Amino acid sequence: MDKINVKAGFRGRDELELDAEIDSGIIVSAKLRSIGCPQVLNLISDWRNRLKGSLAELSEPQGSDHASVLLRELIQKLKGTWSFPYKEEELCHCRAISTHTVDAAIVYGADNANKVAVKTSAGTGCGTCRRNTEAIIKFRHG
Ligand code: FES
Repeated sequence: MDKINVKAGFRGRDELELDAEIDSGIIVSAKLRSIGCPQVLNLISDWRNRLKGSLAELSEPQGSDHASVLLRELIQKLKGTWSFPYKEEELCHCRAISTHTVDAAIVYGADNANKVAVKTSAGTGCGTCRRNTEAIIKFRHG
């Protein structure tokens, strides 16, 4: 029996946490908790009963709204398929903007590099970081 704890979200906004027990690839128990906006709380409520059965066959929310994006992250972390495309702490070196800040802008609706630039100023210098921003956008929103 494996006990797994995974988290997703942004402190002070929406925070999701899942504790699960997995036995031979089967979810034996899952406790899903969240602090956040009504949209996140409603989605979590809908998904609580789906967290059972085969871990490999566990479905993921497909939406591009922030609640779906964050729950998808949580489920991918549980399944071991989470693969965030950029590993460095700072994404935009010209403006000293963290990857965390850029990712939050993307999760909360910035779906192209120009919107990320407006929200965070990342990408408004030399522009070389925009390809990494675009990789995160593609990863988060498909
Ligand atoms: S590294 Fe982001 S604009 Fe130069």
